Amino acid sequence: MAEHDKHSSFIKTRQQLITVVVLSLVVSIFGIIMIVNLVTNKPKADPGAMTPEAVAARIQPVGRLEFGAAGPAAGAAQRSGEELVKTVCAGCHTAGVANAPKLGDQAAWAPAIKRGLPEMLKAVIAGKGAMPPRAGAAEATDLELTRAIIHMANQAGGNLKEPAAAPDRGAAKPAAKK
Ligand code: HEC
Repeated sequence: MAEHDKHSSFIKTRQQLITVVVLSLVVSIFGIIMIVNLVTNKPKADPGAMTPEAVAARIQPVGRLEFGAAGPAAGAAQRSGEELVKTVCAGCHTAGVANAPKLGDQAAWAPAIKRGLPEMLKAVIAGKGAMPPRAGAAEATDLELTRAIIHMANQAGGNLKEPAAAPDRGAAKPAAKK
């Protein structure tokens, strides 16, 4: 027994044994609580992530046509309505994102067409609902926007005439980009 005593542990009394057992229990319970916390506290989804604005911002077209430093050469670089619709407007108007009137959907376009081209142009320039100002195409001229509106409106039962080159402020606002 003398041999055994030399190697005996520091636990000498019943009380020490109980203390050690209780302490180790407490430590492992804490550990379990922390692990459970870690597993159940999943990062919560941002509640603002599904608002029409946020969705529209995420799916807006990646590429934008930027003119060179010289700016558009007096009307030369004007895109057709169809081009602009394909590259910019379709991003929202094809699928009807955030209640955008869908391409070719006569019922959806009827109220806007009824309000008339000047009102539609105003709405596009100022932005409306989830549509950002200038429909997000900051570099687009008024003429380009007008043509794009006409293109979409006419696809959806409208009968608008394309203007020659009148409402074109493109050359006058070369520094509109940020
Ligand atoms: C970021 C998405 C988005 C893009 C890009 C976009 N639109 Fe829209 N557009 C909308 C939404 C949303 C509405 C509906 C706004 C409302 O009524 O609240 C809308 C409405 C309109 C209307 C109807 C306005 C009215 O008077 O009710 C016109 C016209 C229009 N867009 C033209 C365009 C043109 C032209 C382009 C491309 C140059 C374009 N949009 C690009 C989202 C977009």
